[in-house]
Amino acid sequence: MRVTLRRQLILVVVLLTLTVLWYTNPRLIGADRLSAFSSEHGLIPQFPHLRSSPIDPHVLSIRRFWSPWATTIQDSAPQVDPVNLVYSANIIKPVNDGPREIHQNLVSISDEDEASLRAAHAKLRTVLDAYDHLEDAESHFSGTGVVTVAGGEYFGPFLAGLHMLRSTGSSLPVEAFLADSSEYEAALCEKVLPSLNAKCKILADFLQASNSTATKFKVEHYQLKSLAILFSSFTHTLFLDSDSIPLLDPAVLFSTEAYTSTGFIGWPDFWTATESPIFYSIANMTFPSDLPATSSEAGQLLVDKSRHLKTLLLAAYYNIYGPDWYYPLLSQGALGQGDKNTFETAAIVLGLPYHRVRTPVATVGRMDGREVKGSGMIQHHPNPPSRGEGKDSAPMPAFLHANTPKMNAGHLVDEGDLQDTHTAKHLRLWNSKEEAEKMFGEDLERRVWKEVVEVGCAHAKEVREWKDRKRLCERLHEHVKAVFGD
Ligand SMILES: *[C@@H]1O[C@H](CO)[C@@H](O)[C@H](O)[C@H]1NC(C)=O
Repeated sequence: MRVTLRRQLILVVVLLTLTVLWYTNPRLIGADRLSAFSSEHGLIPQFPHLRSSPIDPHVLSIRRFWSPWATTIQDSAPQVDPVNLVYSANIIKPVNDGPREIHQNLVSISDEDEASLRAAHAKLRTVLDAYDHLEDAESHFSGTGVVTVAGGEYFGPFLAGLHMLRSTGSSLPVEAFLADSSEYEAALCEKVLPSLNAKCKILADFLQASNSTATKFKVEHYQLKSLAILFSSFTHTLFLDSDSIPLLDPAVLFSTEAYTSTGFIGWPDFWTATESPIFYSIANMTFPSDLPATSSEAGQLLVDKSRHLKTLLLAAYYNIYGPDWYYPLLSQGALGQGDKNTFETAAIVLGLPYHRVRTPVATVGRMDGREVKGSGMIQHHPNPPSRGEGKDSAPMPAFLHANTPKMNAGHLVDEGDLQDTHTAKHLRLWNSKEEAEKMFGEDLERRVWKEVVEVGCAHAKEVREWKDRKRLCERLHEHVKAVFGD
């Protein structure tokens, strides 16, 4: 009995001593290193005086910019239950380019709830309308660059896309946003990305602020994208989904008339737009008569923050309150519901100019029986070819949004997308060689595979989710040998 009591007493004394040391002489017990580690990775509350490296000035700058907006967006939160749909909208191919016809309403909502959403939207709108964004645009953003959301299984396709970006000759800097510190991979963020003029940015770091409301949002999946674009350090921003592969140096897109005259370029989806008429009622406006027929596909997006900072703030609102309210209002359950329409819609609501690429999205892919095995979306240069240029007048492909499967070297060799289900024969993913040469002027698939193999072989032991995959590099080579003969 006595012995136990004495042990407990010793334990209490030791713990007390450690606690006192933690605050007074942290170096003695290694707390300084723990603190530096955790501050870098945002794990536990910080000891600012112990920080070994200062916080990224980019993060500090954006925190100052974002903190009041986080409060405003929080104050304008919808006060009603999540929006319900009677049923989901079907996907339909548009017959022509436009103008858009308003879709039937499929949202089931009471007049009171509709009025409440309209009041919340108006509250944000009042602040936005009074906001002179120019000073913020100039003091927090500069230059031109590419932004993406990576992390976890998205690092693989991002690395392939980054290699392709560099193979176009592009030297644009790249910022890859990760949701939080759990997605931070030191080998990639500290060595691989910097060698390709790319940086990891941890989104959760930007949301931290003394203002407690700033951290109340739960930001995940689709919602990350709007904040990544908003928080990126660039004024002239190309957002790319991690699986969207640039086929030309994107720098040229920023000097197109489409961009210089509007500061916003978006690309079309396959399907007609399906937003609810109730959305326009909530946004307190009449349905515009000049919208494109298709919904937008936001796998790639060009935005000039000196002209569209308000668009991005309103888009952030639609995304933060997306899953329960604005995603169903803007898509009514149609395939691909998510952030896709929020950016263009924000520009439309604010009456700001935007350019929607008119060349319809094209596809590349392969059928396996009745199952689509490979499928990618081809998006084009915004300048439609002028008439009468003969053979060369085809619109120029600018991006391959390779979404099924994604160019994740590890997943590709393990998930059966590369081989015929019955014969196990290795097959192409994106059309025949002849079709590819006609479309891209080269066998694009072969060129992409060169990068996929390079990425897979160089980083097989570094990318967290590839480490345990056996013979990754060899199996990538086997596929390339079987399909392309080299
Ligand atoms: C809706 O817009 C009109 C002007 O177009 C304005 O007078 C009215 O106050 C707005 N309503 C709300 C709820 O903001």
